[in-house]
Amino acid sequence: MDQRSIPNSAPFTITTPLYYVNDLPHIGSAYTTIGADIVARFQRLRGREVLLVTGTDEHGQKIQRTAEGRHQTPQAHCDQIAAGYQSLWEKLDIQWDRFVRTTSPSHAQIVAEFFQRVWDQGDIYQGRQQGWYCVACEEFKEEKDLDESHGCAIHPNLTCEWRDEINYFFRLSRYQTKLEAWYDEHPDFIQPVSRRNEVLSFVSQGLEDFSISRVDLPWGIPVPADLDQTLYVWFDALLGYISALVEPGQPPTLDNALNHWWPINLHLIGKDILRFHAVYWPAMLLSAGLSLPRCVFGHGFLTKDGRKMGKSLGNTLDPLALVERHGSEALRYYFAKEIDWGRDGDFSETRFVQIVNADLANDLGNLLNRTLKMVHKYCAGAVPDPGALADTHPLKSLGTALTPDIEAAYEALDFSGACTSVLNLVRAGNQFIDSRAPWSLYKQGDQAGVAEVLYTVLESVRLGAYWLSPVIPRTSSDIYRQLGYPMGLNSPSGAQVRPLLAGHESWGILDPGRLVLEPYPVFCRLELQSA
Ligand code: MSP
Repeated sequence: MDQRSIPNSAPFTITTPLYYVNDLPHIGSAYTTIGADIVARFQRLRGREVLLVTGTDEHGQKIQRTAEGRHQTPQAHCDQIAAGYQSLWEKLDIQWDRFVRTTSPSHAQIVAEFFQRVWDQGDIYQGRQQGWYCVACEEFKEEKDLDESHGCAIHPNLTCEWRDEINYFFRLSRYQTKLEAWYDEHPDFIQPVSRRNEVLSFVSQGLEDFSISRVDLPWGIPVPADLDQTLYVWFDALLGYISALVEPGQPPTLDNALNHWWPINLHLIGKDILRFHAVYWPAMLLSAGLSLPRCVFGHGFLTKDGRKMGKSLGNTLDPLALVERHGSEALRYYFAKEIDWGRDGDFSETRFVQIVNADLANDLGNLLNRTLKMVHKYCAGAVPDPGALADTHPLKSLGTALTPDIEAAYEALDFSGACTSVLNLVRAGNQFIDSRAPWSLYKQGDQAGVAEVLYTVLESVRLGAYWLSPVIPRTSSDIYRQLGYPMGLNSPSGAQVRPLLAGHESWGILDPGRLVLEPYPVFCRLELQSA
């Protein structure tokens, strides 16, 4: 998703999926939301005005049945689970700007206005819907895709239900050519390329109209044209991305929603809901005469110890327990560094503890710690003046080359590439200290040599902390503080920190004479415990 051609003055709107509230948040929802938060923080660091949208998808049969099972009203159930999401997002340091809930009255108004536009285009008609419905997916399935007990591929333990209803349909078929032209003209619209190919192949087989309403399902938004039916949960949920854009206190109209934050720059979703976002959603928008999002990125799925995660397998991971045990920085770092976001990735607690300890506690934390100690010992606690440094200086040359690589990596959602580049600089810093041995230089009275080594290492750590701040904002802020900077890197708004951080993306910002703090561990080692 290279959006570098878009000027920094343009706003940047990014969304997570709106999560179902049938259950407490699981590790998969935490994974997507952390990824979106990393992108949002990176864009804020670039100085862009960012809106990170997340929220909950609260209608539909699945939620209604879950609430019934818990002997609660659907609304009380939704309120409770939505609060659980918000509380987890806080613990994970997610800086969301809007949390949209599809049961909010303002969302219902946006849905009604949007429905009317599509209706006026003649894109909604009544028809007969027959087919197998998976309540867990909230989706009709092709019979050929079901197993012998009519379970779908995602929920083989559940049986799809036969439906035969008069519903309202959306004329998706009318948009086949327009969509194909759009994909063709916007090769970056669906990322990564493997997902784009999946969608192109699906669309080339021919698009069929889909049902956008249900009968006998009270837990939904009434169809404006027929109050006996409610809207299909996906039609309603996708529109949550628009409702979220209305400024608080403004009347919920499409005009108000679309006047600043539209079009959305990035929908970050899992591969399971790609079709809804890359086919149905743009077709709905085309019908309503709205411009389309710039990019839909479908990431892979997390497995646990190499196996698919699921309740039936009894190997789900509770994100809350993980955060409480190891802290949010560790989890954020692992997801960013260890997982290729375009593919499926594995969570292994052993690997998690190893990676985080090796990179953050040992390489990064120790480098800062040992260097600061030497600054106190040999330079009276002030950043030393290295004098003029040759461009070929091993750390300066690495540090100077870092920024363009990192920016390209974050833009491409290659978080692992971004972390690896920083770690390469950090490791080079450790090797540089070992090979130049400033303690010997000091003994030999080579104060200029000491200054050169300590300055270049501290500057490498500073630059590394700056570029890791979208991933590990607290640790980066702690490093900055120890380097004597009053501002943290965890501020909710780019506007507040940006002026203080002008130029900090470049090598050579650390100013000689700045007083550094006494070092304290920025990252405590994790201990492996049985899950
Ligand atoms: N409510 C719909 C989305 C509507 S968007 C307008 C929905 N919700 S969901 O709660 O089921 O969340 C699905 C999302 O959770 C996936 O797309 C993905 O982002 C995330 N994940 C769920 N399980 C996952 C893994 N095992 N691994 C990684 N992410 C996964 O679908």
